[in-house]
Amino acid sequence: MRSVTVRASAKINLALAVGRRRADGYHPLATVYQAVDLCDEVRASDAADPGIELAITYDSPPGAEPARLPLDETNIAHAAARALLAHARLERGVSLTIRKAIPVSGGMAGGSADAAAVLVACDALWDLGTPRAELAKLAAELGSDVPFCLLGGTAMGTGRGELVSPVLARGSYHWVLALAAGGLPTPSVYAAFDRLDGAPPAGETPQVAPAVLAALRSGDPAALGLALHNDLQEATLALRPDLAGTMALGEECGALGSLVSGSGPTVMFLAADGEHALDLALALSGANVCADVVQAVGPVPGVRVIG
Ligand code: C5P
Repeated sequence: MRSVTVRASAKINLALAVGRRRADGYHPLATVYQAVDLCDEVRASDAADPGIELAITYDSPPGAEPARLPLDETNIAHAAARALLAHARLERGVSLTIRKAIPVSGGMAGGSADAAAVLVACDALWDLGTPRAELAKLAAELGSDVPFCLLGGTAMGTGRGELVSPVLARGSYHWVLALAAGGLPTPSVYAAFDRLDGAPPAGETPQVAPAVLAALRSGDPAALGLALHNDLQEATLALRPDLAGTMALGEECGALGSLVSGSGPTVMFLAADGEHALDLALALSGANVCADVVQAVGPVPGVRVIG
């Protein structure tokens, strides 16, 4: 039985500028994404019968019970396989196995990474050779972050996040991620953002601060730490006030910068180098302020076939 295994990276947002809610319910945004080496693995195997079978295993921190994802057609991985079958006008069965390390509803695009991974794995399994541009179009229909998950690296995202183009970024950045117990559904954070009314006037296009792009161009982690910015952070902290303590602790421990990742509740800290990241990770784990602490390096590629 043939199978293809791919790896897909989590994303963080180094900058996230959010505009006023559009008529379609989405928010216009300008963001700088970075893919980091915290990865889900997806194996797609031929199945004897038509239909999509899905199984998920979780690499969760000791003692923490991960949120369980649905295994039916409501799972975005299932939707990705269906979208590719429809696009290729194929009727095939496939068995998908996901090994999850990216936190569920953690603001790190775990579901989007799985969807991007399924597109690439099934495309290879079925020898379709779908051009990247067409896979990117299917990705955008599946979710705002899916095109970036396909691409990886460091990239600017506009529209509702689905229009991506690479950004020049020198060097490697060492991140420490404080994973929170429980997730935050993205729509609830955008709804809190609307209630707080922090958005610029309608029609104004959100912009990423030039300082973030300048720091990335020069490869200067200290400058990047100062420039990190997330317009959703206030809304996330309103829903999860406990995260303020985690952020303060990371800053006390000398992080170059701290930020809620995407819609949260993961909080990310920038370290000067690998050694600093280890010190920071140990300090955060010792303080017992979050469910787990993970070190990650970015940028890394998007989805890649590993076997
Ligand atoms: O595109 P995706 O399915 O990942 O979005 C999930 C939800 O997040 C949307 O239904 C919407 O509530 C919110 N969202 C938004 N504006 C964006 C991206 C997502 O309001 N640019």
